[in-house]
This record gives sequence, C-alpha cells and structure tokens, in this order.
Amino acid sequence: MTDTLTLRRPDDWHLHLRDGAMLDGILPESARHFARAIVMPNLVPPVVTARQAAAYRERILKALPEGMVFTPLMTLYLTEETDPEDVTAAFANGFAQAVKLYPAGATTNSASGVQDFQKVRPVLDAMADIGMPLCVHGEVTDPTVDIFDREAVFIDRVLEPLRRATPGLRVVMEHITTQEGVGYVRSAAKGLGATITTHHLIINRNHILVGGIRPHYYCLPVAKREIHRQALREAATSGDVRFFLGTDSAPHIDALKEAACGCAGCFTATNTLSILAHVFEEMGRLDRLEGFTSLHGPAFYGLPPNETTITLRKGGPVAYPAKIETGAGPVTVFDAGFPLHWHVE
Ligand code: DOR
Ligand code: ZN
Repeated sequence: MTDTLTLRRPDDWHLHLRDGAMLDGILPESARHFARAIVMPNLVPPVVTARQAAAYRERILKALPEGMVFTPLMTLYLTEETDPEDVTAAFANGFAQAVKLYPAGATTNSASGVQDFQKVRPVLDAMADIGMPLCVHGEVTDPTVDIFDREAVFIDRVLEPLRRATPGLRVVMEHITTQEGVGYVRSAAKGLGATITTHHLIINRNHILVGGIRPHYYCLPVAKREIHRQALREAATSGDVRFFLGTDSAPHIDALKEAACGCAGCFTATNTLSILAHVFEEMGRLDRLEGFTSLHGPAFYGLPPNETTITLRKGGPVAYPAKIETGAGPVTVFDAGFPLHWHVE
C-alpha cells in the first residue's frame, strides 16, 4: 500500500482570491500548497485592462506572508468594450495569461460580461492569432433553460459555434460539471482543455438539497446528478492531459452564504490536496494525481511544471480548520463529509 506520495508542486488553474480585507486571510490557504494559480478577475469592479491586472497582481504579492512563494497568473475579464490591443500586449508582456469569458449574468459579479458575442469577435480573433487562452464560464443565462441544463445547452448554443468561428482559439472550459462537458472536451481535436474542481468530484445535487439546504455546497455551475459526478471522477483520474485541476475555490463570508439568497461558491483551498488524494486513491489511480494537479495544466498553458515538490503522507485524520478568519469575516472551509487521511507535509 502506498502511504507516501511526492508530487511536483501543484498549481491551481482557476482560483478566486478576492481583494482587500478578504485577500489577506484567503491567500495563504492557496500559497501554502500551490506554486501558481490562474487568478479570476471577477472583482468589483472587474479586472478588465492590463493595467488593472498589474495593480491587482501587486496587491496579491503584497498580501503574501513572509516566506511564502506563490506566483499569481492574471486573467482579464472580457467585456464588450475590451480592447484587442490591450489584451494582446498584456499577453506578450506576461501581465496576463488568459482572458475570462463570463456570459453576462451567469454568476458572481458577471454583470459586465458578454451579452452579444459578435461584439467580442475582434478580441477572440486576436487571441487566436497569438495563442492566448480563453477561460470560459460555460453556462447559458437564458431564463427558460433549467439551471441543471445550462452547461450542456451552452456547449451547443455558444461554445461550439464560437470555436468554429474562431479556428485556433485555445479554450479552457472551466469547472465542468456534466458528462456532456467531459464528452465535448474528449471530442475536440485540439485547443480545448477543461478544469475540474475538487468539490464537483465529491458532491452531487443531493448533497445540496437532501435533509435541508446546505449553502456551503452551493456553487455555480451547480453540482449535477450522480452520473455526472462519476463522469468527472473518471475524467480527472483518466490521465488524459486535457483535464486538469482548477479548484474554483471561491470564498464568501458566512453571512453571505447562510442567507435567504446565498452566494455561490465552495471554499476548498485549505483541504483540496487531501481530498484529491482521497479521490484518486479511491479510484485506484494515485499514480495519476500528479498529472492532474501538476503537469497537465502547465502543458496546456505552455509553462514548465514546477521544479519543487510536495509530499503527501497517509495517516490519522487530517485536522483542518472549519473556518478561516478573514478581515471581512469568517469563511467556511468545504466539508468533504468524511475524514481525510492524506496529510500535506
Ligand atoms: O460558485 C461560483 N463562485 N461560481 C462562479 O462562477 C463564481 C464564483 C465566485 O466568484 O464566487
Ligand atoms: Zn470561478
């Protein structure tokens, strides 16, 4: 039985770090285990320009505790007014790694997102020319589409037409939650990858709704039926380089989660690696954990994998805080619902 596992240091290819009073408390939870992260731009106001991304990056680095090493990889929030030249220059200068597409109204702070896809054609064409990835929140916002169908419908109505119209555009389908998402990524010849979150490997929609409503399991895209969770577990542990870790760890203070209209987001940064080791072990594929956490993502983004390593060791129950205190208030850590035994050394 394997009880020690050394991996190249993981990266998180989809992360919400927030800003201000929240950032200080949240950042160490990722920096403790992860070397780099693709940082989401859905602040208020959003991070739209290269200049804003550079300023946000500085705030993140300033919040990093002494002795911790962490590289934020910045993204630009795509709006209908985004300037193609600003985007391409940011990529060329290393200020931004990717552009994030939120359909307007799809999720937290997405009001400035895209409504009319024709208006962002010049940006997408410019990105395709230089190989800059587009990170996509893949859900339609059509109020007549059931929330559990919004990802599958997005693939047919938006993503496939968009990719056909923009040959060469490199796309990451963020936080896929369905077997349709898995199948679509597998069907693509090239230029398409997907991130999978930690929580979507653990919960299905019953976890949110059976026996009382559990706001800390509510996120977007919302967790689907069990067959979809199984498809995600299979994809994540398959060794297929098109699937990689993007935790979508998305902190909201408890007061905003445990409310009549609670915010979407699961905060998993603290215990993600212990949970993933548990899942990969359960699937009999611990040998593929390193690919998912540390190799496939850098390969997609054209970056070298990290040289440093982390070691996971199996032992007694892992103790982790139930809540992280931040300057904005407490944030509840994702509860896997079972004891974790893989410790990060
Ligand atoms: O659950 C989510 N939380 N999904 C998103 O797309 C956004 C995120 C957030 O920013 O809170
Ligand atoms: Zn997200």
